[in-house]
Amino acid sequence: MDLIDLVRGATFDDLRFAPRLSVVERRDPSSIDLSCRLSEHLTLARPIVSANMDTVTRAEMAIVLAEEGGIGVIDRGFRDGDIEPQVREVEIVKRTQHGIIADPYAIAAGAPLSEAVAVMARSGVGTLVVVGEGRRLEGLLSERDVRFVDPAVAVGERMTPADRLVVHRGPITVDEAERIMVARKIKKLPLVDERGALTGLITAKDILKHRQMPFATRDAQGRLKVGAAIGARGDYLERAAELVKAGVDVLVVDIAHGHSAVMERAMREFRRRFPDVEMIAGNVATAEGARFLADRGANGVKVGIGPGGGCTTRINTSFGVPQVQALVECRRALGDDGLPIVADGGVRRDGNIVQALVFGGDSVMLGSAFAGTTESPGEVVQKSVLLPESQKPVAVPFKVLRGMASLGAIKDRLDVEDDDVADLQALGAEGLEISVPARGSARTVLRDMFKHLCSAISYGGASSLPELVRLFRAHPEQYVIRQTDAARRESYER
Ligand code: XMP
Repeated sequence: MDLIDLVRGATFDDLRFAPRLSVVERRDPSSIDLSCRLSEHLTLARPIVSANMDTVTRAEMAIVLAEEGGIGVIDRGFRDGDIEPQVREVEIVKRTQHGIIADPYAIAAGAPLSEAVAVMARSGVGTLVVVGEGRRLEGLLSERDVRFVDPAVAVGERMTPADRLVVHRGPITVDEAERIMVARKIKKLPLVDERGALTGLITAKDILKHRQMPFATRDAQGRLKVGAAIGARGDYLERAAELVKAGVDVLVVDIAHGHSAVMERAMREFRRRFPDVEMIAGNVATAEGARFLADRGANGVKVGIGPGGGCTTRINTSFGVPQVQALVECRRALGDDGLPIVADGGVRRDGNIVQALVFGGDSVMLGSAFAGTTESPGEVVQKSVLLPESQKPVAVPFKVLRGMASLGAIKDRLDVEDDDVADLQALGAEGLEISVPARGSARTVLRDMFKHLCSAISYGGASSLPELVRLFRAHPEQYVIRQTDAARRESYER
């Protein structure tokens, strides 16, 4: 039977997989390959993307995602024309970790210490490089050098001068730098060119992070990768230009209905201005929609109309495609080795992730799965909740998850696709605001997901995610079971 006939009208909880002979010794994410393609030119060690929602992904979440091998997409939930706040989030991620810091914060020897203190406070950096004319390296100034000292004193009087530093001349690899740092017992290694001009800085802290996080998603300079969303109207091109300048690694042209004339125009203009910028477009949920975006220059396609946890599109409009059907249709339209698909929305339990990946997604975008975690933006509010067993009220900390088309989110950015915004009570919202109990770090949530994904790979008779996808797509009929209502109860009712 054709897979598309098997899954028409179906989504994750309608389907189960039959287990196969297991071939892995240990279900361990550090030894099982979970890598995937995010878009045409980007790969991830872990197939998880955090959603561009203003209650899900800002810098803090994007950092955790990239450190753990996935990637975060910073939302565009800022007012039209207000580009700087989104750019700042991207800059924070790009400055979190480095291999070689190409442009370390620098100061002149003649500057007063008060200026150095201000730069340290603003940047959060504890060591400044002191440079002279032509960026000649003159020394290093650390927090310890400025503590308890008259702020009017010149930087040059307190710095450790270059002739007392270990300095590397010419190109170097991170491994070589590590060897030098161990041998010479130093924490900072400034790099200079033949003329003694500063070319970079390597810190022990960054090297340590590289060792501790071998799966992290990094760019060529060792910085964490990050994505950012833009719209298809208004300031989107200017926003894109600023985000690219800040070092964003992938842009997501994201609107609710990506198979549209609005999107067509936006993609044409985008590609005219940014022919080489990696760009994922969405959302679509049909074969025609996926081909429409592929034909217009997208490097990846985001699939999902209406499955999102904070989404009411299907309730309000009756439109949308059950997510498994959408993934199978779009994958078929693009070809098995065609453009990567980001399966966006509808993951309510970890077991849904492997489904999204074998049915057509290359990576999975999650919103509500990260709601309430420490790294999600927003305040924690205490709410009184009645304990069912004892009927006693207890104060429980909550955070808010809101759909990007919810009334609150629309009002905050006043970015309605309908031009008539006069009646603020009838904005045509297609999203919810939900209180979610505050819980621990998204890192724990992610690591749990990776372990569950490894277990799924084991049950599926594969030794890696790419292999499971290959096995499944060659013979989906050997895996897929349509659940009856009773089977569903057996799966979920506890
Ligand atoms: P989950 O299920 O992971 O889904 O929470 C995240 C995805 O939901 C979409 N999204 C929305 N869809 N109205 C919608 O129709 C909304 O207000 C809304 N907010 C988010 C989005 O694709 C996200 O990645």
